[in-house]
Amino acid sequence: MALFLDTSRGDSDATAYAIGDDVVRVASAHLLNRAVEDNPGEALVVIDADYDLAGALAIASDYRIRRPSLGVVLLRRRIDVALIAQALQAGVREVVTVDDLPAIAAACKRSREVSARQLGITPSIGQGQIVTVFSSKGGCGKTTIAINLAVALSAVERRKTILVDLDLQFGDVGISLGLPSTPTIADALPMQGQLDAIGVASLIHPHGSGLDCLLAPMTPEEVESIPGALVTEMLQVLRTEYDYVVIDSPPAFTDTVLAALDLSDTYVLVTTPDIPALKNLRITLDTFDELGYPRSAWQLVLNRGDEMNGLESGDIETALGANVHIVIPQSSDVSRAGNRGVPIVTDNPRHPVALALQKLASMQRGLDAERVGAVDVRQRKTGLFRRGK
Ligand SMILES: Nc1ncnc2c1ncn2[C@@H]1O[C@H](COP(=O)(O)OP(=O)(O)O)[C@@H](O)[C@H]1O
Ligand SMILES: [Mg+2]
Repeated sequence: MALFLDTSRGDSDATAYAIGDDVVRVASAHLLNRAVEDNPGEALVVIDADYDLAGALAIASDYRIRRPSLGVVLLRRRIDVALIAQALQAGVREVVTVDDLPAIAAACKRSREVSARQLGITPSIGQGQIVTVFSSKGGCGKTTIAINLAVALSAVERRKTILVDLDLQFGDVGISLGLPSTPTIADALPMQGQLDAIGVASLIHPHGSGLDCLLAPMTPEEVESIPGALVTEMLQVLRTEYDYVVIDSPPAFTDTVLAALDLSDTYVLVTTPDIPALKNLRITLDTFDELGYPRSAWQLVLNRGDEMNGLESGDIETALGANVHIVIPQSSDVSRAGNRGVPIVTDNPRHPVALALQKLASMQRGLDAERVGAVDVRQRKTGLFRRGK
């Protein structure tokens, strides 16, 4: 996506076309700001030739501080050396004449590449990122988060994404997204040892959002027959085919979950602000330390985080011995959207729950966790329970 600050009343379709597909026009600096806030992964702003120069430079210098990965390309009717110097000083990446469409396209492409490097995004070269959403307590919101994260990566971030339901016994990804119940992961069993991209593709359910899904089996017998080795093999294939593989999991360290965790690049660890859930997360974190899953890959999510029931975020972090990165508020709109089979990130993208989930999606793309909404960490001595080692 690119944001095009276009206040001209003239015909700017050709310019928009040169900027690239998926251009969103905004008619004022205020609307631009809102769009930038709503899209933490946004990488490019193009300012039209008719927009006041001082205003354009103010926008560029503001984003240079607030969002260094966001490139600003400035269009002007005429360009001279003094203008270029002034623009670059303000933080504009490139200045291009508005009637030079190939130059606009090239400048936008270069700016996107710079942003991608700054965000640590490298083009997909057959090594997608595996993200496991985990919590050792049921009902915390794993499935809700996994579905919305996957849909956000697919529909909003436009990354080739698959959601794998590894809650083999009670998986509800299929029913939540209104998908047919077969085929399932169990249908990969006859292919074990020789599973390839074509084999896996035969088991995939496409969802309307652009997301692909692999579903949990239908019967307990099938569940028991699925070994960790099959999951390992399947994820290794999926990693070569997708930018992101998002895994929903059961609330337990089963063989298949451990197989997924071993291959994961990031771990979305979900808790709610209540003592049993926090205690379970604490045990999970200790287990992660023992298993050697690096702390830099942990992404702690506090779901229903506005229902603190007397707890404070500082207490929670002290008790966990780790930072909470994303706080998702409680809202009945989550189940309401879910019941209609529409994840909240696409049903109502401006909803506070959707914005928090979108931030989580941006984090997968390498944005600094501190910048995308970590809660304040206070070094307080009072803990909910002690870190015992
Ligand atoms: N932030 C939230 N606000 C309100 N309801 C939520 C929220 N997150 C999850 N839920 C609801 O809580 C229930 C359990 O969530 P789910 O994602 O199925 O948990 P899990 O997969 O961890 O068992 C679901 O009905 C879901 O709609
Ligand atoms: Mg679940």
